[in-house]
Amino acid sequence: MTDQAFLVDVDVLRTEVQKHYAEVAETPDGEFHFHTGRRAAEQVGYDPALFEGLADAAVEAFAGVANPFAWGVPRAGERVVDIGSGSGVDSVIAARAVGSAGSVVGVDMTAPMLERARNLAASLGLDNVEFREGLAEKLPVPDGWADLVISNGVLNLVPDKVGAYREVFRVLRPGGRIQIADVCVDRDVPESAKRDIDLWTG
Ligand SMILES: C[S@@+](CC[C@H](N)C(=O)[O-])C[C@H]1O[C@@H](n2cnc3c(N)ncnc32)[C@H](O)[C@@H]1O
Repeated sequence: MTDQAFLVDVDVLRTEVQKHYAEVAETPDGEFHFHTGRRAAEQVGYDPALFEGLADAAVEAFAGVANPFAWGVPRAGERVVDIGSGSGVDSVIAARAVGSAGSVVGVDMTAPMLERARNLAASLGLDNVEFREGLAEKLPVPDGWADLVISNGVLNLVPDKVGAYREVFRVLRPGGRIQIADVCVDRDVPESAKRDIDLWTG
């Protein structure tokens, strides 16, 4: 992590983000400022074939903002890290693509999301994907392990973006790839907005 000063209290923000996404994991059909589930994935451009064999209930807590597979799915045999893996849908899509010679690690900090993700992988009998509790800013993955890092809708929730990207480059092997879907702004964000935790989470 960097020693950069942030305009929000990072621990308070994390707690609020965890509360918010625990609610998404536990009541995915609740009222949120984003769509969830299969319909949301199709709206942001996922090929419906990627969801083949996945029950609606198993993917109802998907909360991605765009499609990290727009650049293609991982290749057979690759090692993939999914940062902020949430309910595990992207990790499972990646695990099916890399096959038994590959392997996927999903990392998330919200316990009910990790539980959902582990249940999803178990229900599909996938043993080439595992979900680790951890932070985007301190990935529980060794240096140079990954061929590909994916993420969907997560880094916008992280104040230390430079620190998080340092982690992406630390875990990637030389020549590895990044496929990140996220929310970006193309103008300066006022300090008052950066201090407003409700705007980070909502
Ligand atoms: C918008 S959801 C997206 C989940 C998943 N990628 C998907 O597409 O459904 C954001 C996820 O990022 C996780 N998250 C947010 N900040 C994080 C951080 N600093 N470290 C690890 N996970 C984080 C949350 O717990 C939540 O599961």
